[in-house]
Amino acid sequence: MADEIVVIEGDGIGQEVVPAAVDVLDAVAAESDAVDGFDYVEADAGDAVEEATGTALPEETYAAVAGADATLFGAAGETAADVILPLREAVGSFVNIRPAKAYPGVDAVRPETDVVFLRENTEGVYSGHEDRLSEDLSTLTRVVTSSASRELAEFACDFVEDGRGPSGDPDEGFTVAHKANVMRETDGRFRKEVLDVAAERGVDADEELIDAFATKLPLDPSQYSVVVCGNLAGDLLSDLAAGLVGGLGLLPSANVGHDNALFEPVHGTAPDIAGEGVANPTAAILSAAMLLEYLGYVEEGQQVRDAVEGVLSDGPRTGDLGGSATTEEVTDAVVERL
Ligand code: NAI
Ligand code: MG
Repeated sequence: MADEIVVIEGDGIGQEVVPAAVDVLDAVAAESDAVDGFDYVEADAGDAVEEATGTALPEETYAAVAGADATLFGAAGETAADVILPLREAVGSFVNIRPAKAYPGVDAVRPETDVVFLRENTEGVYSGHEDRLSEDLSTLTRVVTSSASRELAEFACDFVEDGRGPSGDPDEGFTVAHKANVMRETDGRFRKEVLDVAAERGVDADEELIDAFATKLPLDPSQYSVVVCGNLAGDLLSDLAAGLVGGLGLLPSANVGHDNALFEPVHGTAPDIAGEGVANPTAAILSAAMLLEYLGYVEEGQQVRDAVEGVLSDGPRTGDLGGSATTEEVTDAVVERL
């Protein structure tokens, strides 16, 4: 049976890189015996929809995503928070997987970088509990539950044990990054639950304070592989890692729930280059590779990764990587390798 994939291009370069990723999925479907094809359900979200209809995330889109096998999302502009936070909820996502890997042929600040962030995806300071208490005072409530912390930790243990970390070694363990020395109650709870689960599961886990981590990662990324962290820390630290490997055009991500998931490039709508056909499709194509693996097409996901790595190494490359190729030329080169 064909898998149902909701496709949301969104705004800006979302409209350029998502069609590129769909071309790659079509090439996989054409070549692979395991894949019966994909039923794409196109849905709208973002600034343009809000302008036209008054809402950035139409109910039909939310319902389609909630009922799909998986969703491929591009980016939304100013309405990003109104779109992506509810969509992560629609798929019941409790973890955001963000691999940051440097590739041969790409000019990276730290070519040895190969790190996967497993970011808590529902709470922390992004749980939406903000208040304006007076003319002078606004507050934010930081939410940390044992249940969400443990769920993330269980996922991290499975991830490592299944050999899905950068080295593929089931014994590689993970690092939990936190700030429990200051946020003793909230990050104290997070830290304890994550380390407890690792101990119960017999998975190696060490810990790092997030500020120290932010220094050590750029100095020597080779000492880290799988990094488990809270919501805001994961957002910031994975963008920092993007800077080490050659930019946002390369980083995919997966928002994974229990029986649904949403895949998206880490980047936004890139208004400075939108409409020119020169956006780097790599992040969106690698997001499609993660989608394939999530649906059980592990070999096909790896084939897409290999094709992307080949193109990054030999060209053609888009402007952000120092080349002059268009989105379409890069996509065609990936499809050809498949
Ligand atoms: P951005 O990621 O859109 O762009 C940052 C820089 O990276 C720009 O110079 C851009 O040209 C470059 N860049 C990003 N992706 C690229 C690609 N695939 N190829 C080549 N260059 C690329 O972040 P920015 O500028 O902070 O945000 C722009 C808009 O995107 C804002 O309205 C923001 O709200 C939205 N946004 C949406 C996100 C989402 O939908 N998940 C995530 C981040 C930002
Ligand atoms: Mg971000």
